Amino acid sequence: MAQPTPAPSAGSPFIEFQDVWLAYNETLLAQNSFAVEAIDLRVNKGQFIAIVGPSGCGKSTFMKLTTGLRRPSRGTVRIDGQPVTGPLKISGMAFQAPSLLPWRTTLDNVLLPLEIVEPHRSQFKARRAEYVQRASALLAKVGLGGYESKFPWQLSGGMQQRVSICRALIHEPKMLLLDEPFGALDAFTREELWCILRDLWLEQQFNVVLVTHDLRESVFLADTVYVMSKGPGRFVVNRQIDLPRVRDLEITYTPAFTDIVHELRSHIGAIRGGAAAAAASGVVA
Ligand SMILES: Nc1ncnc2c1ncn2[C@@H]1O[C@H](COP(=O)(O)OP(=O)(O)OP(=O)(O)O)[C@@H](O)[C@H]1O
Ligand SMILES: [Mg+2]
Repeated sequence: MAQPTPAPSAGSPFIEFQDVWLAYNETLLAQNSFAVEAIDLRVNKGQFIAIVGPSGCGKSTFMKLTTGLRRPSRGTVRIDGQPVTGPLKISGMAFQAPSLLPWRTTLDNVLLPLEIVEPHRSQFKARRAEYVQRASALLAKVGLGGYESKFPWQLSGGMQQRVSICRALIHEPKMLLLDEPFGALDAFTREELWCILRDLWLEQQFNVVLVTHDLRESVFLADTVYVMSKGPGRFVVNRQIDLPRVRDLEITYTPAFTDIVHELRSHIGAIRGGAAAAAASGVVA
């Protein structure tokens, strides 16, 4: 019989992984071939974490587990005190490609989740004016006031990515998952978007999980950076970023900042070196 889920206690973490393993299918499970393994993680409410690691190490897999798109083969994932048993409504997501619908205007792209996800879906018609106002306010915050009626093809890549972040935030999620959201952008636009994300997060205090290949990005934005290894896909380093808030771009030129970036880079180098050595010796990583 299903047991009632206990209410989260005041001190409980917002994201909690307890010894989580995932094999993508039964065959892989039977071969003990796991995409991620032995993940233990506790993230407090409102924290911003970043995950870095080599390609294929399991970062996107971690995201799927966090948002309930995949269930662990072993272990437990809890979000906001509740075990995750299916896709979560309390999260918003944005990916490397903005994936806006080309036939919808900026405004209608941002409104899309409200048309799909309950409890908004059933109220959408009645509350449309309020939702439009919310979308416009969000667009104004990311510097896109006045672009509501433009189509995606009329926007630059950076603008499209801002729209996609607004779309991820329109239903006021408790958690924002970003999988390399700025990877395709030029360096200036990327830094501009770091600041936009920083401001939205400081204002709204949702949890953020950011996957990135950019170590500077992770150090600039996150409270904690996790480094993942490949084969096995594990969390091997947990680095608190104790740089003061509010951080502005100037901080990225300070020795304190670059020291942390170097330290993370040497961890990644060690992981990649280990994988390369294993491949050279004929051991498949
Ligand atoms: N649907 C799937 N079925 C089987 N294996 C998968 C599936 N998705 C991912 N994998 C495997 O799981 C491992 C981790 O993949 P994942 O996509 O999480 O890596 P990643 O760290 O996000 O990589 P990248 O930086 O290239 O995006 C890889 O070995 C990959 O081949
Ligand atoms: Mg990925």
